[in-house]
Order: sequence, then C-alpha cells, then structure tokens
Amino acid sequence: MLRTALLAAAGSPGCRSLVERSPLTRPVVHRFVAGSGVDEAVAATADLVHSGRSVTLDHLGEDTTDASMAAATVKAYVELLALLAGHGLAANADVSVKLSAVGQKLPDGDRIALDNARRICEAAAEVGTTVTLDAEDHTTTDATLGTLRELRVDFPWAGAVLQAYLRRTEQDCADLAYAGSRVRLCKGAYAEPASVAFPDRSEVDRSYVRCLRVLMAGAGHPMVATHDPRMIAIAEELGRDRADWEFQMLYGIRDAEQRRLARDHTMRVYVPYGDEWYGYFMRRLAERPANLAFFLRALLTR
Ligand code: FDA
Repeated sequence: MLRTALLAAAGSPGCRSLVERSPLTRPVVHRFVAGSGVDEAVAATADLVHSGRSVTLDHLGEDTTDASMAAATVKAYVELLALLAGHGLAANADVSVKLSAVGQKLPDGDRIALDNARRICEAAAEVGTTVTLDAEDHTTTDATLGTLRELRVDFPWAGAVLQAYLRRTEQDCADLAYAGSRVRLCKGAYAEPASVAFPDRSEVDRSYVRCLRVLMAGAGHPMVATHDPRMIAIAEELGRDRADWEFQMLYGIRDAEQRRLARDHTMRVYVPYGDEWYGYFMRRLAERPANLAFFLRALLTR
C-alpha cells in the first residue's frame, strides 16, 4: 500500500516539486546520491575504488521527452568517461544508462536511443570500460533488450538489467546466459500490474532465486544486484569462480556488507549523481520502510 503510494508519487509532478523544493530534503537525498556534479561523482568513485570496490555510475535522469536533454545526457556520460580515465579510474567504473534518458520516449525513440547509447558505448570503449542498460517499467523491456542486441554487435560487452519481479524474466535470463553476456539481476523497483509481475514479495524472491540459478548455470557474467542477505547467501553457495560473476549494491546502502563482500568477491556499487534525483530517490523510499523512516526522522529533527 505504502509502496504503491510512494511509487505513484514518483510519477507525480506535484509531489515532485514539493519534495524537490524543500530545503530539508537535500541532506537526506545525499545518503543515496553521490552529488550533483561530475566532480563529486568522480570523488565518490575514487573513495570506493580505494576501499576495494568497483562502481557503475548513473547520470540521473529518465523519461526525457526533449531531444536536447537526451543529447545533454550523452554529453554528460562522454565527459564522465573521459574524467574517469583521466583519474585512472575507468577500469573499475562501468556506466549505467537508462534508455528513457537518452530518447527512448521521443517519436522514433528506439532509433534515437540506440544512436545515443552507441555514442556512450564508443566513449566507454575508448577508455576500456563497459556500459549496462538499466531496466525501467515493463512497457520498455522488449525495446531495451532489442537495443541491447543491436549494441552487442559492435560492443559485445554491453550488458543489461533484468527484473526478477517480471514473470517473463526467467526466460530472459535463459536467453541471455551465453558467453560474454553481462546480466545484472535485480528484484525490480517500479509499480507493475499483476498481469506482468509477481505481486507478492515471497514470489519475487522465489523468482530471483530461479533466475539466479539460470544465470549461474550459464556461460555469461551474472551481476547479483541485491541487498538481501538470503539472496547473497544463495549466490555465494552457488559459487562459481570469483572472476566470473559479481555482487552489486546501491550507493549508501549496507556499506559494511559491501566492504565485507569486497574482500572475497568483485563488489560493484551503483553510484547515481546529478540533479534529476527525484524518481530514483522515491523508488529507494518505496522499497524499504526503514528508508522512509530515516527520511521522516531527518525532517522532524531539523
Ligand atoms: P529487498 O528490498 O527485498 O530487501 C530484502 C532485504 O535486504 C531486507 O529485508 C534487508 O534485510 C536487506 N536490505 C534491503 N535494503 C536495506 C537497507 N537499506 N539497509 C539494510 N538492509 C537492507 N531496479 C530496477 O527496476 N531497474 C534497475 O535497473 C535497477 N538497477 C539496480 C542496480 C543495482 C546495482 C541494485 C542493487 C539495484 C537495482 N535496482 C533496479 C533496484 C532493485 O530492483 C530493488 O528495488 C532494490 O535493490 C531492493 O531490492 P533488494 O534485492 O535489495 O531486496
């Protein structure tokens, strides 16, 4: 109920301006977002890399309906990748891209998003790192996986995110579990109808485990994106060679566990930065009541 309300608020322009304009929100947002500028993102990356972790960086933004904003997002990624290379951080820093931020929702959006994603992949290739396509709501899944297929012709290291809450995902995992295929498996963070997604948390967890088994039994590179101790334990039990797969968590969540896992595994942290934090922030509040309590406590004690 609360999750549904928060995810509805994530799409509401009224709520957005209320939350964004409040001077009290920003310090709380900074728990989950590395900063608004690229320099803060690079500084957060350097800290994480020095602590033995890798990163994937997300220039925040989504659902762009303006071609110039999509172009600005591409430029931001190209600048980010050059800066990471300049600081000697590119080898530890993948970038995560939402196709809706680079034009997927514009007229002729699939072509525009593919061209824009291609430019980001070219910049990543130049500095020797990789790109992963984020998963958005289920209406975009086919288009995003189609774009992935096209990108992989020239950039075989391009990866994608699959969401275990979608009923289709076990099959998508099987289709993508081939050599060289990088798949980030998460539970899923959007409000979805029961016709396409498991409505119940325990069903989502069971689906996550099934998907994990498919990916781990395949020849690709599974990226186990979760903070859930049970999923982490199962992934460790399935134990493949350390170099063949990795754990991933979000910036600001379970820092001690991230450090612990980094001792024995590749541990990659998803680092969002930029001013367009509203949708991302609301999804973090929706997925865990304790995050919302943290937010409300911070507001009340100011
Ligand atoms: P869940 O939220 O079910 O929590 C299970 C348990 O984990 C909790 O009971 C608790 O024990 C522990 N836990 C969770 N959060 C905690 C916290 N803050 N502090 C302490 N313990 C905590 N989604 C999407 O739809 N598209 C995408 O592209 C991505 N990308 C993505 C990348 C990466 C790297 C990650 C880690 C996640 C995503 N997600 C995502 C988000 C994902 O779908 C999901 O909403 C969150 O990861 C929360 O799900 P969990 O698997 O962490 O477990």
